[in-house]
Amino acid sequence: LFAGEADFIWAANSLKNLPPQSKVEIAFAGRSNVGKSSLVNALTGRNTLARTSHTPGRTQQLNFFNINDRLHLVDMPGYGYAAVDKEKVHAWTQLIHDYLRGRASLARVYVLIDARHGIKPVDEGVLETLGTAAVSYQIVLTKADELKKGELEKRIADTAEKISKRAAAYPEVLPTSSRTGLGIPELRAGIARLLGE
Ligand code: GTP
Ligand code: MG
Repeated sequence: LFAGEADFIWAANSLKNLPPQSKVEIAFAGRSNVGKSSLVNALTGRNTLARTSHTPGRTQQLNFFNINDRLHLVDMPGYGYAAVDKEKVHAWTQLIHDYLRGRASLARVYVLIDARHGIKPVDEGVLETLGTAAVSYQIVLTKADELKKGELEKRIADTAEKISKRAAAYPEVLPTSSRTGLGIPELRAGIARLLGE
């Protein structure tokens, strides 16, 4: 699946200009700077497919990538904070929530959580939206390379505990690192399973 083509196909800054729902969509959501675009690059093995930056607020639209004509990955703007004005972040947050709750072709959302920080109140809002809309999602911990083994294990356990009573949450919390490749094969396998491959 990920050994084939991966191409940027569409950018949308409002619900009015989303692409046609021609493929299954899998979206990556999370706070600004959590590592969404880096994870899209790690999954596809293309380092410059999605644009990344050390300053929060890099991704400013819903960016759609066609993977081998089998599915569309959606790299979303971040919520929570950004090195841009508050109005913009507010508009993105609205767009993110509207997209997540109203998209029929959306098969799964990966909600990215910085392994160092864990789930924050602003993340809870997104989990609430997904639960209410019954969109299945999995928690992915990012930047696992920044933690010691014991710290990471604690974070996985406390995060799993936090989501255990939430509707639509996949119970397994997946630790990843775009730097070391930790968890990337597991994430690819999960996506392939979802497509029945
Ligand atoms: P926005 O588009 O601004 O919301 O950010 P994003 O979530 O797409 O994050 P992005 O992928 O641009 O990465 C943000 C910063 O985190 C960059 O400096 C990356 O190099 C860094 N980063 C991403 N993934 C990892 C990781 O696995 N480990 C470490 N240590 N840093 C990472
Ligand atoms: Mg980004």
